[in-house]
Amino acid sequence: MITWIGTKELACAERPSVLSRILPDGTGNSCGSRVGGGRIVLGVNWLHQRYCVSEKWREEMVGQTLPWVLEDVELDGPVLEIGPGPGLVTEALVRLGVADLTTLEIEPEAAEGLRRRYGTQVRVEVGDAAAMPFSNASFGTVLCCTMLHHVPTREAQDRVLTESRRVLWPDGVLAGSDSRTSLGFRMFHVFDVHNPVDPQNFPERLTAAGFSDVSVDPVEDRFRFRAVAL
Ligand SMILES: C[S@@+](CC[C@H](N)C(=O)[O-])C[C@H]1O[C@@H](n2cnc3c(N)ncnc32)[C@H](O)[C@@H]1O
Repeated sequence: MITWIGTKELACAERPSVLSRILPDGTGNSCGSRVGGGRIVLGVNWLHQRYCVSEKWREEMVGQTLPWVLEDVELDGPVLEIGPGPGLVTEALVRLGVADLTTLEIEPEAAEGLRRRYGTQVRVEVGDAAAMPFSNASFGTVLCCTMLHHVPTREAQDRVLTESRRVLWPDGVLAGSDSRTSLGFRMFHVFDVHNPVDPQNFPERLTAAGFSDVSVDPVEDRFRFRAVAL
């Protein structure tokens, strides 16, 4: 099981560097949300950490956005999930029966939480999606949910796209979603990376990264994207 380490638990356990920067008093007056057993920490601000494991996010991400993102996407080959964080999407993919699942997460503590939870069921890697530690044409699907806006520069985001294309086999699919920015979204990212992707010019960026059959569908507060590796 996965446990989200909140400030209270962190006070009595080892305190990861990211959170000790964020929690000035280090005492942990609040508690984290539990989504299972094990431990997860994100390189994102405290509000974010709590939200990413909340029931509200589960309902939004797993209940609404993920089915929309995966509409008509076949998950029968090896699947790579980039930026899994605490693993709500990972959990959903396992439940969907994805048998060959790899995750790539830049935060070692978050990856460690997934490793504890899944053992050998999911191949959990620590690394940067802008420089992936995988061979060319290794995956049938790359899934990228709520991750790109955490990548600090447009250049690095574009490298995430070209790397996704590189590790996909021909006709493999990159699918994902991200949030559209707003005042509330900006406030939510105080002390956090906030580099939102503009859905308007995202098709050109996907095409420039070597994808075809690109589609980007914006709705109110989010967008989904889909692109096929050439
Ligand atoms: C907001 S969480 C999203 C978690 C999950 N995908 C979801 O939608 O609920 C974004 C995650 O992306 C990870 N991340 C950010 N930049 C990354 C990079 N360059 N490579 C891999 N993971 C990255 C962060 O550490 C964080 O765990």
